[in-house]
Amino acid sequence: MNATKIAAVVLAAGKGTRMKSERPKVLHELAGRPMLHYPVDGALALGCRPVVLVTGHGADEVRASLRDRQVSFALQEQQLGTGHALLSARRSLEDFCGDLLLLCGDVPLLRRETLQQLLDLHRAEQAAATVLTAQLDNPRGYGRILRDGDEVLGIVEEKDATEQQRGIREVNTGIYIFTAPRVFDILAGLGRDNAQGEYYLTDVLAALRRAGQRVQALVLEDADEAMGINSRVQLAEAAAILRRRINERWMLDGVTLVDPAATYIDDAVKIGPDTVIHPGVSLWGESRIGRNCIIEPGVTVTGCEVGDGVRLKSGSVLEGAQIGPQSDIGPMAHLRPGTILAGRNKIGNFVETKKATIGEGSKASHLTYIGDAEVGARVNIGCGTITCNYDGVNKHRTIIEDEVFVGSDTQFIAPVRIGRNSLIGAGSTITKDVPAHSLALARSPQKNIENWTLRRKKPGKKS
Ligand code: UD1
Ligand code: CA
Repeated sequence: MNATKIAAVVLAAGKGTRMKSERPKVLHELAGRPMLHYPVDGALALGCRPVVLVTGHGADEVRASLRDRQVSFALQEQQLGTGHALLSARRSLEDFCGDLLLLCGDVPLLRRETLQQLLDLHRAEQAAATVLTAQLDNPRGYGRILRDGDEVLGIVEEKDATEQQRGIREVNTGIYIFTAPRVFDILAGLGRDNAQGEYYLTDVLAALRRAGQRVQALVLEDADEAMGINSRVQLAEAAAILRRRINERWMLDGVTLVDPAATYIDDAVKIGPDTVIHPGVSLWGESRIGRNCIIEPGVTVTGCEVGDGVRLKSGSVLEGAQIGPQSDIGPMAHLRPGTILAGRNKIGNFVETKKATIGEGSKASHLTYIGDAEVGARVNIGCGTITCNYDGVNKHRTIIEDEVFVGSDTQFIAPVRIGRNSLIGAGSTITKDVPAHSLALARSPQKNIENWTLRRKKPGKKS
């Protein structure tokens, strides 16, 4: 057991001008979560306490997005550089003594294992600072790492670099581990005599060296991890990388993706093995998909629980629904929030459900609306059935008990209750409760007028 403590600071005060957005940059989403949540959750998962977020632009919105996470906030009112940003978190870490991880809110692709490696190296080397670096073919714009063998001498920003230093391809990712509180003492002594007139966090490294401390570096194997997001082009690139990782994880866990490049699975989704997912499927939010499911092309599932062996046919849209096992949904079904299917259900084409509990084995195979309803087990709902749940002011419930057979083109004028094992004649408009085991007919009786068409004068025809 290593008793050394670890805390984290996540920088997120910058404006993100190049996003051309009203929304703070770090709240733009990747795989269903604001980009800021990735570094914050990475720090929490590593065991960092506290995690301090440095906010500036859009501080209120940023705070609100982390409402349910254990983080504290420090405000950097003016963005005077990365060194100044970390210094803004000093008060939040007044009593903290240990390792301090520094992350950026706009660098979402770092893997947990990488952070752990960085920490392990920092501790093994008893360094005062350890920086995460990457080798880039095109290092433009980044700070360059100055080295003497294994030892890091410092970092020079592109704008301050000599021609020769610009040739260096090892760059600063902007991710570090420092030892606190020492790093704050050094930061407090830094000036801003440089090309940008900013307080450079990078200057801490050379200052530590001068004070006789060890500065180490970990070189990333996969430079993509350090990708920072400044524009929507980079947002899309990062999202594609993240999607590839998520998709590979599910394939390695036994899920078939027919075309992974065209499959969109949010970070928080869970999927059981032997499920097959066809192209153009989006699984969003905290959806849970069972094992042995088939999800056909063009299905969208948001925040649903889908049981084992379910088939979701093409073009269906499911939101906030629970689908019991072995059910068959779609094509083109619309299951809205509050839909709860017990299992072995069939919900066919152009069927819409909302706030509807439907018992085991019940079917609505075509062209139906079931809303604010409670449907029992083994109920058959005929084509074109409508629960008329809304009178223009209030919503009312329809209750259909077990084993009811609803003939096609029936309207239930809610509130109404249909007793078990009843049969509703096709074309009925049901306005009153039906007792169990009854036949209900609510349509005008048919009248046949014989020879009527023969007697009718045909237009345009002479008699
Ligand atoms: C910084 C590094 C550079 C490194 C690069 C990696 C410095 C001086 N340079 O560049 O060596 O290659 O990151 O991306 O540190 N931020 C604040 N407050 C500020 C300034 C920045 O919160 O006053 C935040 C930004 O929101 C961003 C992060 O710090 O999340 C990095 O800022 P950015 O301006 O992108 O980095 P550079 O200073 O250009
Ligand atoms: Ca800058």
